[in-house]
Amino acid sequence: MFFSEDVISEIVEKNDIVNVISEYVHLKKSGSNYMCLCPFHSEKSPSFSVSSSKQIFNCFGCGVGGNVVTFVQKIERLNFVEALKLLADRAGVELKDSRDAKDLERLNFKSRLLKINLEAARFFYKKLQENKQPEKYLKNRGLSDEIVKSFGIGYSLDSWDSLLKYLQKKGFDKEDIYKVGLVLPKKQGDGFYDRFRNRVMFPIIDLKGNVIGFGGRVMDDSKPKYLNSPDTPVFNKGYNLYGLNQVKKLTSIDNILIVEGYMDTIALHQYGVSNTVASLGTAFTEHQAKLLKRFSNEIVISYDADVAGQSATFRGLSILEKEGCNVKVLNIPSGKDPDDYIRANGVESFRELVSNSLPLIQYKIESIKNKLNISKLEDKIAFKKHFAEILKEIESEVEIDTYIKKYSKELQLGEESIYAELNRLRGRNKNGNIKHNIISDSKTPKKHQKAEVLAEIYLLNLCIDNIQMAKNILNKVKPHDFLVDLHKSLAEMVQLYLSDNKLPNAADIMNRFEDEEKQEISKIFSAELPVMNKDDLIKSCVDTLIKSKNYRIIQELTIRMNELFQNGEIEKANAAFNQIKELQNIIK
Ligand code: UTP
Ligand code: MN
Repeated sequence: MFFSEDVISEIVEKNDIVNVISEYVHLKKSGSNYMCLCPFHSEKSPSFSVSSSKQIFNCFGCGVGGNVVTFVQKIERLNFVEALKLLADRAGVELKDSRDAKDLERLNFKSRLLKINLEAARFFYKKLQENKQPEKYLKNRGLSDEIVKSFGIGYSLDSWDSLLKYLQKKGFDKEDIYKVGLVLPKKQGDGFYDRFRNRVMFPIIDLKGNVIGFGGRVMDDSKPKYLNSPDTPVFNKGYNLYGLNQVKKLTSIDNILIVEGYMDTIALHQYGVSNTVASLGTAFTEHQAKLLKRFSNEIVISYDADVAGQSATFRGLSILEKEGCNVKVLNIPSGKDPDDYIRANGVESFRELVSNSLPLIQYKIESIKNKLNISKLEDKIAFKKHFAEILKEIESEVEIDTYIKKYSKELQLGEESIYAELNRLRGRNKNGNIKHNIISDSKTPKKHQKAEVLAEIYLLNLCIDNIQMAKNILNKVKPHDFLVDLHKSLAEMVQLYLSDNKLPNAADIMNRFEDEEKQEISKIFSAELPVMNKDDLIKSCVDTLIKSKNYRIIQELTIRMNELFQNGEIEKANAAFNQIKELQNIIK
């Protein structure tokens, strides 16, 4: 059998490594990776790490590693082809020898369609430069030349066949041009005409950089406002997100913002909120959720405040939650969309909205509250009922307690009566017992890694990469500059290796630590490094560390300054103040 790379990557893509490995061992989430006891050697503390974003596994104990196929090969003791077959079965992919003429034809066909799209995008882009009206339209909407370029925005001429003619002249077949959705069959007679005419064109680009489709906007009030490529062999709306190809380039992603529209995405990117994608219409799918989750677990959703937008928000939220994402809702005041809002109020104000976005539960409670008039008794009762229904879905009793406290106070509802309602829903009120304030474990969700923690992890990883780089780094920061104790120890260890003129080695370093720490260390060393020039990365991480160190010193000095001031030691207080000012200048 011979499998084309396309088929193999389809199989790998459709078998999420975390899911597959979970079928054999118990994976535990640990930072951005998953960890467990290695199934390939005997060990007492987990050194087997699975990365969802990288879709690879790696054991720091015994050194096995690879992708999902390698894993199945090893654990099932199969050869490559057998493992591939098993995974194809699992994902419902039909496996045929791809030298099969039909398959080859299918692949050729797809790559022809992609070439047509690319050529069309180039054509549109060129036409935008040559035409004043669309250029002016985009200027009026506040788009800079750079953003137009980076999103490849173009213009389709006000003509029935200029694109068709252009593509045919380039040697493309009109049937193919039709199949990729760029032309439509004439209603009368033979032949085709351009689908997109006199529209501003937004190419939709997938993660591999292929132009898979287009959206086109009119420049006046005519309908439809946006026209999109139909689903084609290379474009399936539910499987893609507009702007994800740009998000992919980011070196660090705290969360991802989902908006509704092309223009929202572009505007936010232009203002530097580059972690934004659009769901291409309002229906959010499971596939899109899976795609997003590869980049970030934390999703902030911001759909229009109209009714369609609101119910779309709820649907999208539940899909994302099912995929295990931490979902928040960003509400934009006064019915604006993100594009309008950021242009009217600026990026700082928008970022504040993001940081004020509500966790899903609270968003649900708030939207019920806003629909009711709580000063009326029957609305109060209705609220209590809906409120209890929402609370019923929450597992953590601590969280339930918190919400009950908050809203009983705010709406002047008795706490006991809400607990009673909740217990009634749970079917636990048979003996009239009100279960109250049951504090279960207070596992707070892991806080996001702060920039400096991450910078330290990156630096440590760079240290085990290359001896020269390690030397370079430890020339700039010393172990005691590291914030996290374990990082400090690791940096010291690195220094030890360097003094021996040896390259620090992760697996080896780990041996020198206690068992509990080993896990933490393998996590550190399986961190994903941002894809960027390593010297730039070192510089930015070192800057972060120095900044954070100076910031800590400022904090200490400020406390000291206040003490001195209160003790009447004005001169010393002034000296401390000057020192603080100096440090603040360095940080800026
Ligand atoms: P909106 O109507 O909210 O438009 O549609 P918008 O994004 O704010 O666009 P501007 O600012 O008026 O230019 C949101 C999204 O829904 C899809 C598009 O993806 C659009 O960006 N849509 C909307 C369509 O596909 N077709 C339409 O006719 C309208
Ligand atoms: Mn808009």
